[in-house]
Amino acid sequence: MKLQPILDRRVVLVSGKGGVGRTTVTAALARAAAAAGKRVLVAEIEEPATQAQSTLARMFGREVLPVRPTLVAPGVHGCMLATEEGTEQFLGDVFRVQTLARLALRNAALRRLLHAGPSFHEMGIFYQLLHLVRQELPDGRPRWDFLVLDMPATGHTLALTALPDILLRLVRRGPIAAALREGQGWLNDARTGCAVVVTIPEPLPVTESLELVEGLQATRMHVAAMVVNKVPEDPFSAEERAALDELLPPGPLYGKEELARLERTRVSLERLRGAARAPVLAVPQFLADGQGAVEAMTAWFQAEEGLGLSGGGAR
Ligand SMILES: Nc1ncnc2c1ncn2[C@@H]1O[C@H](COP(=O)(O)OP(=O)(O)OP(=O)(O)O)[C@@H](O)[C@H]1O
Ligand SMILES: [Mg+2]
Repeated sequence: MKLQPILDRRVVLVSGKGGVGRTTVTAALARAAAAAGKRVLVAEIEEPATQAQSTLARMFGREVLPVRPTLVAPGVHGCMLATEEGTEQFLGDVFRVQTLARLALRNAALRRLLHAGPSFHEMGIFYQLLHLVRQELPDGRPRWDFLVLDMPATGHTLALTALPDILLRLVRRGPIAAALREGQGWLNDARTGCAVVVTIPEPLPVTESLELVEGLQATRMHVAAMVVNKVPEDPFSAEERAALDELLPPGPLYGKEELARLERTRVSLERLRGAARAPVLAVPQFLADGQGAVEAMTAWFQAEEGLGLSGGGAR
């Protein structure tokens, strides 16, 4: 039951090195959570520099995700976290009136604080996230009981999770400090927030993922799981493999690279399990990619956890 601890959280940050499958894992977790009856919001963070198209949106058959949550699949809403949106929400919440918010932005001290280095971007994102976590239904239940976030590259993830501590050293009182503490409460309490680190079973990505786990833990994030993605299927038992190695002639041979990959996979999984930083979830390499990989992974998660609405409950 490695998925349940993830699904029990309110806010889940999915992080990892580029290209390992973060977005696919995010989308599949969202779908699995929705199938388990959660009110799911899946979100990504705007990349102001690149204005890149959204892969997360495409995994739900769309081009882009708007800043306001929109239904993208049964039980799943999607949105984009954007600096502007978050900053405006923040100022709106603090000053109630738009004109006052604008006046406040003319205040030199506040402007300096808001634009203090790269934190400006993260603060906007952080606040929009907090705003979404706070949203409630008319009956008082949370609007989103599973908010899963497709994080950008490793460095940006840590910039976001380290933000509250860093800014709280500068501002101890007032609405910014209050928002930071509230957000920190959600993220750093293991009952409500966690990170999921995605990697692939290769030496360098494994090393980087272990470093990321350390970085996240240093910012007081609980790492609920390390997802080892694209694990190739190994058709051999240990004895068969030993027998095969004896039969193979030395030198290059068609298929030897695949055997070497299987070996790297075995070593990688052993290393991750040995490091024992977090439960390790080995997700297979599927034949399909894109939306097909999301569907396959969702089904795999459901079967793994007995979460499926149909068929998955056998275990
Ligand atoms: N388990 C899997 N089996 C097969 N294909 C997969 C699997 N996981 C991901 N993929 C495919 O690998 C590619 C990269 O996945 P994805 O876009 O999720 O990675 P990412 O970490 O979000 O990348 P980026 O750094 O570009 O944001 C995609 O084509 C995706 O469909
Ligand atoms: Mg991605």
